[in-house]
Amino acid sequence: MAVDHTRFLEDLHKLREFGASGVGKGVFRPAYSKADIAARQWLADRMADAGLTPHFDPVGNLFGLAPGRSLLMGSHSDSQPEGGWLDGALGVIAALEIARSSDQPISVVSFQDEEGRFGVTTGSAVWSGGLPLDKADVLTDGSGVSFGEARSSMADLSQGFVDPARFSGFVEMHIEQGPSLDAANEQIGVVTDIVGIRDMSVTFEGQQNHAGTTPMHLRRDAFQALSLFNTRLNERFRNVVTPQTVWTIGRVDLHPNASSIVPGRARFSMQWRDGDPDRLSRMEEIIRTTAQEIASEQGMVLTYGPLLGLEPVTMDQSLRAALEHGAEQVAPGRWRRMPSGALHDATNVSRLMPVAMLFVPSINGVSHDFAEDTTESDLVAGLRVLDLAVQSLDGQAR
Ligand code: GLV
Ligand code: MN
Ligand code: MN
Repeated sequence: MAVDHTRFLEDLHKLREFGASGVGKGVFRPAYSKADIAARQWLADRMADAGLTPHFDPVGNLFGLAPGRSLLMGSHSDSQPEGGWLDGALGVIAALEIARSSDQPISVVSFQDEEGRFGVTTGSAVWSGGLPLDKADVLTDGSGVSFGEARSSMADLSQGFVDPARFSGFVEMHIEQGPSLDAANEQIGVVTDIVGIRDMSVTFEGQQNHAGTTPMHLRRDAFQALSLFNTRLNERFRNVVTPQTVWTIGRVDLHPNASSIVPGRARFSMQWRDGDPDRLSRMEEIIRTTAQEIASEQGMVLTYGPLLGLEPVTMDQSLRAALEHGAEQVAPGRWRRMPSGALHDATNVSRLMPVAMLFVPSINGVSHDFAEDTTESDLVAGLRVLDLAVQSLDGQAR
């Protein structure tokens, strides 16, 4: 049976209705929110309609299982707090359409908490054995809810963990989430590698006080410490980073966050990414040394949360070749091989089986924003490449 582009696009729009938010096609569907769980239940029904057996595991990863040995395809259906409609959702719905139309046995997955409400790609990290469940359970989100508490909201759906030995490999389609394909007017990216990441929270604790009466030289202002830390860190990283290295302070909780109070505490996320694990370690050293220096100079107590991370990984040659073969047929002269600067569940799954990834363009390179979008013709082109790749794998999918 041929892939059905209309059904594929309709299902993508239907999934967006769960947590539809913001302007344009934005969504708010964080892991374990009502919208996320409702979306997963809808997906489970779609999987059953496709002849797959829906299976929720203890952390809320949803599989649609084909009988016997199969190729696993999919991504995630949770979103960032201000997320787009395609990040993750595209890979899940594309996988569903391939499973419905292919002669090959295809299983589908939507991993839980890829977007890191609690950790870094938490659901696939636990399933792949990269993160023990007891360590995951004590991770907390920005408001102090633990992963263990959050996943208990899906306990009534939970069955055991799925045996990875039933899958021959994993293929994940995703939006690029960066500017390269769009800027070059190209339609497809075949991923070569996925960068590594480190992520931890850092806290400077100073002295909360009155903003009118506390002389500047007596203050232990946690915001000033954070500000100095950021400036010094940027200077020091210059000797170590490449144009591909990135680092982000994306969440800052300033306590008590009031205009007439000298802030007593700044807790912030520190995240850095690169393709070279040695560089990631060198950056960690610089972060810790700089934070310690600032803490001493500014009279702060310095504490760290757990260091989370994923190593850089390389895609499987033979699955990649199948995607390249499809790309050449669908978009001759308009596709490229490229690394992924975004993290994906494929990184974790690569511990268990061969993995490969396919990108379609993000308009203006925008993602992790309500404005994220991709043209319909590019979405469909990606689906066709996946379809041709699976056909070319033929019996190898088993
Ligand atoms: C995944 O969403 C990432 O942050 O790369
Ligand atoms: Mn994603
Ligand atoms: Mn994302």
